[in-house]
Amino acid sequence: MRLSLTDKCNLRCTYCMPAEGLEWLSKQAVMTGDEIVRLVRIGVNALGVRELRLTGGEPLVRADLVDIIAGIRADHPDLPISMTTNGVGLDKKAAALKAAGLTRINVSLDSLHEETFTKLTRRPFLDRVLAGVDAAWAAGLGPVKLNAVLMRGINDAESPDLLAWALDRGYELRFIEQMPLDADHGWTRRNMITAAEIRELLSRDFVLGPDPRERDGAPAERFEVRRRDTATGVASGPVLGTVGIIASVTEPFCSDCRRTRITAEGKIMSCLFSREEFDLLGLLREGATDAELAERWQDAMWVKPKAHGMDHTGLGAADFVQPDRSMSAIGG
Ligand code: GTP
Ligand code: 5AD
Ligand code: SF4
Repeated sequence: MRLSLTDKCNLRCTYCMPAEGLEWLSKQAVMTGDEIVRLVRIGVNALGVRELRLTGGEPLVRADLVDIIAGIRADHPDLPISMTTNGVGLDKKAAALKAAGLTRINVSLDSLHEETFTKLTRRPFLDRVLAGVDAAWAAGLGPVKLNAVLMRGINDAESPDLLAWALDRGYELRFIEQMPLDADHGWTRRNMITAAEIRELLSRDFVLGPDPRERDGAPAERFEVRRRDTATGVASGPVLGTVGIIASVTEPFCSDCRRTRITAEGKIMSCLFSREEFDLLGLLREGATDAELAERWQDAMWVKPKAHGMDHTGLGAADFVQPDRSMSAIGG
């Protein structure tokens, strides 16, 4: 279950938000902490949710984040609860998040170069993000996973260095194909860095081998990484760690997906690319019982599409329609 805590964000990543931001939801439109805790309880107790991911916008901008996590944890002592964040402000909150019951954390990190980071996110916050990543690790919120969306001509050439940096520190880096979920509608198939290109870029310095662990429906295909010997061109030395590639567009994984999504305003999305949404919060506020809410949720999931359709027709993809919501308004 992926649950968005807010549509707001303090970065403006070009592949997600427009420079001027978006029109934010009103405070009343967004789920309260108590409503969130109740929906998670229904998801876990009535519908078999086995893992919770908190998303945004940027979840750290919610003032009651720690209380929400503590509330969920009190109900579900063994539920894995993870959070995907841009890392800004994480250095100050990591320990409290851990104490409240957060299990682990993923941080978006597209570049280690100040200028490139600022160009991509439109905010000069690289140092704060790096401090956040380290703090998450120190607080015991590992394994820390890092997400990098590769953009042609901007941070693609940096990918082997970014991987070397992550391997050195024991972070699990994943490269993500850009998806057409940007508010500016600037995505083009031609400009997207594909998984095949990512493997090629990394092969300059590394040899990737299959990871023996079960993928288990995860978006990321994981590879074991070894150094490439420059003289011989073959793998040398031990396995240094793993890298993930999230190839939503060119190597989709829809048939293994068992995710359900709740937006910050309590709408069910059965797929990241759903064009149909089901209002759960409205029903809750009308006084629905847990059983009624569970039934609406289940009905909404029955219409989960077979696949997103982006990969169908090559360059044209004539049958794919970009959803109205941008990534920040869905929760990733
Ligand atoms: P881990 O369990 O930590 O590996 O999580 P994750 O990779 O599923 O989650 P994260 O929030 O870090 O998301 C990484 C990328 O995967 C983001 O770009 C998400 O939008 C994308 N992603 C997550 N779920 C889906 C999905 O159902 N479909 C698609 N196409 N992409 C997804
Ligand atoms: N395509 C792929 N990934 C994206 N993210 C945000 N927008 C996009 C997009 N258009 C990633 C962020 C974050 C995760 C939740 O989704 O980098 O790590
Ligand atoms: Fe904010 Fe995440 Fe969107 Fe970047 S990708 S603008 S960090 S919501």
